[in-house]
Amino acid sequence: MQQIAKIFSNPVGRKIMMALTGMLLVGFVAIHLLGNLSTFAGSAALNAYAAKLASLGPLVWVFRLGLLAIFGLHIYLGIQLTMENRAAKPEGYAVDKTLRTSFAAKTMIYTGLVILAFAVYHLFHFTLQTISPEFAAKANLDASGIPDVFSMVVQGFQQFGTSAIYVVAMVTLLLHLTHGIASSFQSLGLNNGKTLPGIEKLGKGAAALFFLGYVSIPVLIFVGLVH
Ligand code: HEM
Repeated sequence: MQQIAKIFSNPVGRKIMMALTGMLLVGFVAIHLLGNLSTFAGSAALNAYAAKLASLGPLVWVFRLGLLAIFGLHIYLGIQLTMENRAAKPEGYAVDKTLRTSFAAKTMIYTGLVILAFAVYHLFHFTLQTISPEFAAKANLDASGIPDVFSMVVQGFQQFGTSAIYVVAMVTLLLHLTHGIASSFQSLGLNNGKTLPGIEKLGKGAAALFFLGYVSIPVLIFVGLVH
């Protein structure tokens, strides 16, 4: 317990926790994308995948609570870090040090808060299924008698407003990860002057891949290529 308190009372400890929770969230984003891409394999594949997850029962709840704790800690530390940085840099300071950093780096707190808002919306949309109850998978079973997640996703993204919300959220995620992935390596001391440019490229490349993968789902459905 004392060890944990020590980590959180130390600014370096907090940065390390920020980086570790961020890396775990990136891991979730990667796994969730792989699962979601089964949308392109058709109705039977996506519905079977969703049914398999649901059949894991208590394990799903362990996973959900773990994810919630990691997400909550990441947000809490992010807000604290931003407030500390602001307090350390009084208004009207002659040189704005942030000018040397990128737009993505300067807007981490804002893109983070938009992703939080998206996550809440997304939970009501596809997990609780209360936003468009007429498309709810739990109320519409497919030919195999399992919840029709595929039709819920396709009918949802055929609506311009819904697809637009997801595309904007994915642009925000792209910005957040463009800086966040490389930054987590930096905070963990996993880079040096030599490896930094490579790690930055890797971070940006991974962020771009996540963006293209996720955004392709609403876009291809909206233009009618997946139905
Ligand atoms: C095009 C983009 C996305 C699609 C099509 C999508 C699809 C889905 C679907 C269908 C579910 C419900 C699964 C089920 O209950 O069987 C779900 C749950 C979830 N998604 Fe996404 N997702 C997308 C993007 C994201 C992103 C970017 C994040 C993270 C920032 C995310 C985080 C979650 C979480 C936390 C859950 C709840 C998992 C649970 O039920 O415990 N999703 N998603």
